[in-house]
Amino acid sequence: KKPPVRKGSMVDVPKELLAALGEIEQSFNVDGPTLQGVVKHFISELNKGLTKKGGNIPMIPGWVMDYPTGKEKGDYLAIDLGGTNLRVVLVKLSGNGTFDTTQSKYKLPKHIRTTQNRDELFSFIAQSLKDFIVETFPDGCKENLPLGFTFSYPASQTRINSGVLQRWTKGFDIPNVEGHDVVPLLKEQMDKLNLPIDIVAVINDTTGTLVASLYTDLETKMGVIFGTGVNGAYFDVVKDIEKLEGKLADDVPPESPMIINCEYGSFDNEHVSLPRNKYDVIVDEQSPRPGQQTFEKMSSGYYLGELLRLALVDLHGRGLILKDQDVTKLNEEYIMDTSFPSKIEEDPFENLENTQELLSKELGIETTVQERKLIRRISEAIGARSARLSVCGIAAICQKRGYETGHIAADGSVWKMYPNFKEKAHLGLKDIYGWTETDPAKFPIIIVDSEDGSGAGAAVIAALTEQRLKAGKS
Ligand code: GLC
Repeated sequence: KKPPVRKGSMVDVPKELLAALGEIEQSFNVDGPTLQGVVKHFISELNKGLTKKGGNIPMIPGWVMDYPTGKEKGDYLAIDLGGTNLRVVLVKLSGNGTFDTTQSKYKLPKHIRTTQNRDELFSFIAQSLKDFIVETFPDGCKENLPLGFTFSYPASQTRINSGVLQRWTKGFDIPNVEGHDVVPLLKEQMDKLNLPIDIVAVINDTTGTLVASLYTDLETKMGVIFGTGVNGAYFDVVKDIEKLEGKLADDVPPESPMIINCEYGSFDNEHVSLPRNKYDVIVDEQSPRPGQQTFEKMSSGYYLGELLRLALVDLHGRGLILKDQDVTKLNEEYIMDTSFPSKIEEDPFENLENTQELLSKELGIETTVQERKLIRRISEAIGARSARLSVCGIAAICQKRGYETGHIAADGSVWKMYPNFKEKAHLGLKDIYGWTETDPAKFPIIIVDSEDGSGAGAAVIAALTEQRLKAGKS
């Protein structure tokens, strides 16, 4: 068990810097009552999203209408277009609740996020699929492989094998994809390469995480991603989803489950309950989509380094730090990704030598020990706020669905790699619920590492889809 998170000593830091730090820490602080207010508003927004009129949170039905049983079997391909990488996975479902995977990662070329030519994105995916197939099946494939396409952006679905992109998130901004079904766009590029693959399902990374974890752990209540973006999925029942009225076949029983990809990164775009600070306002204004993804911009990995950078630029501008340093690099937007606050928070507090090296090498700035302590404390504040806000989505879904116990399956780079995030997230839940238990392992609701989220999840969903089709269900 890890020791409790402790703040380092700041005794030798000058008073004016301490005052500035106090101000910044305060602006990132979200105490228990604030979190409770956020959760309350969250629940009403989730409910609004399920109505015909809709609200800020998309609450997208994902057309997964069966719980996995663990008996699903066969070979499936899965691709996962995340924020940073494209993963291609071959999943072998054994039929007894276990699976094997073989996978490769293909780094997305940086410019692809904002390329002006959408075909470049989809041909990159098709080419990566081809490379994977050539490597994995040197003798060729006997039959076409079914593919589950994890497309982790808000995509409206009228059926499981289509997904119309509502809007890009996480800094993507490629023209002529919003409003289009991504399946034919990908298929067109796959056909050019004659790939032996059928796209059978489009899924979100959160739905993949949920289904993959349910395949092995029946206590799973939600799948959540704390990564480049932040989002969650859960099972609702069709009779409680007003906006499905008239969209379901007559033979669907009212109690049927339906997976919902919440897309709750867009929670509180109206700024009712989230305490935004001046850096949040700048992040929003600079982004390709101002006014959108408010919750995500305050809590997910894509933005944490940028929040730190903005705080440092602010302090430098006020003449408080880096007085004689060349800050040309520091002034570049998004030059600090999440690995910056993450590595800094991991660095032992005493002299923060790794931080010195990181900032010197990557940004060309030399720092004093006092400055590094300050930077470290700001990083902690940013990480703590991210963890504490992130769990509001979990509490809101659990309260809405009446789940008092259970497992929340989590995946994503922030969850897996950001120092102290897991502890801080559980403490956030404790503050929301007012639990008196101190050991997170004994909390009624526990956030657990997911079973390899999107790969296996996409495969299980593809298998469930094939079974449904075979059974003649709509
Ligand atoms: C963004 C996307 C969402 C995804 C999340 C985590 O919020 O819009 O689809 O689930 O990031 O990757």
